[in-house]
Amino acid sequence: MAWRVPLADVVVSAEDVDVVADTYRSGWLSMGPRTEELEQRFADYTGAPHAIATTNGTAALHLICAASGLGPGDEVVVPSLTFVATVNAVAYTGARPVFADAAGLLEPWLAASALETAITPRTRAVMTMAYAGHPGETAKLREEADRHGLVLLEDAAHATGTRTGGRHLGTFGAAGAFSFFSNKNLGIGEGGMVVTDDGDLAARVRLLRSHGMTALSWDRQKGHASGYDVVALGFNYRIDEPRAALAARRLERLDVENRRRSELDARYREALVAIDGVEPALEPAADTVHAHHLFTVVLDAGLDRDELRRSLSEAGVQTSLHYPPVHRFSIYADGGPSLPVTEAYAERAVTLPLFAHMTEEQQDLVLDSLERALASQAAAARPG
Ligand SMILES: Cc1ncc(COP(=O)(O)O)c(C=O)c1O
Repeated sequence: MAWRVPLADVVVSAEDVDVVADTYRSGWLSMGPRTEELEQRFADYTGAPHAIATTNGTAALHLICAASGLGPGDEVVVPSLTFVATVNAVAYTGARPVFADAAGLLEPWLAASALETAITPRTRAVMTMAYAGHPGETAKLREEADRHGLVLLEDAAHATGTRTGGRHLGTFGAAGAFSFFSNKNLGIGEGGMVVTDDGDLAARVRLLRSHGMTALSWDRQKGHASGYDVVALGFNYRIDEPRAALAARRLERLDVENRRRSELDARYREALVAIDGVEPALEPAADTVHAHHLFTVVLDAGLDRDELRRSLSEAGVQTSLHYPPVHRFSIYADGGPSLPVTEAYAERAVTLPLFAHMTEEQQDLVLDSLERALASQAAAARPG
């Protein structure tokens, strides 16, 4: 179906294509100079001393968990309103994810106050996720993690470009993981990045990214190494050069694109004041430059969300749900805790389209369709 307003969209310019084509012509396709350049630029951009590019965000998440030494017998506190990869990354190591509730119906991120009940003597770490790019309670989670002697890890997949108090998301914890999947703010297809200020952790991430080998093909090509040892059970989580080149190029215009997202977010909020039945979530935080990865609204209790989404779809407007709560998926539904805020949000929230080059006409179509769908539900509910 060709949507009149898709949920997300990525524009690859002719110059982007040139950069990728030049990389193919260079003859060096896997990790090499373009990857090193991307890592340097991303480190400069986020202010993190170390940035390590990966094949996707899930690999970045797995690497920060593995390099932090998580393993069987450990527990890690996780949010449930996230993409399943946040939780899987913990489970890959053999550690047990322990779900904790969200902060509020309009604040769908992990609540620092929910840690207390989730922490046991086996808890080693907290994995937070910057929902929609919002910093949420990340700073408070850092304080709580420190107070309990836990490692804070950040899934910053949504937060490329979010800074709060001048500090980039992903740099509050021991390590942060970013995703460059197509629908992300820095979308390149597949790609990811680890950031950390810990040199030892960075070294372990680099080692595990490429089979636990002490030297890379690129090191051997440059003549810096002639052989290698394998010192850990690693993976192949390398990125390739064409995608690294595309990411470096896209990073140059990320702030401009995020500013445009911010304007559209403000425009949505302004219009929604006059529309009954729905409230925008994720009020932008003070002292924050925000990635605005998603725009979500929460419907009044009792409204038929499926019907509303059907009606928007008929108008050519794509919507989505972020997220089906992970603790309810069969693989994780082992009688874990009930999470009332998470469950209420998951039942009542809808994600509306938001992308940097969305036009005001497209946004007006979303708003008009939403208003009409809500008015028709209100009319149907009136007696007589
Ligand atoms: C919150 C979150 N975490 C992790 C991921 C996984 O990233 P990737 O698709 O790059 O593996 C995604 C997106 O796909 C995500 O939205």
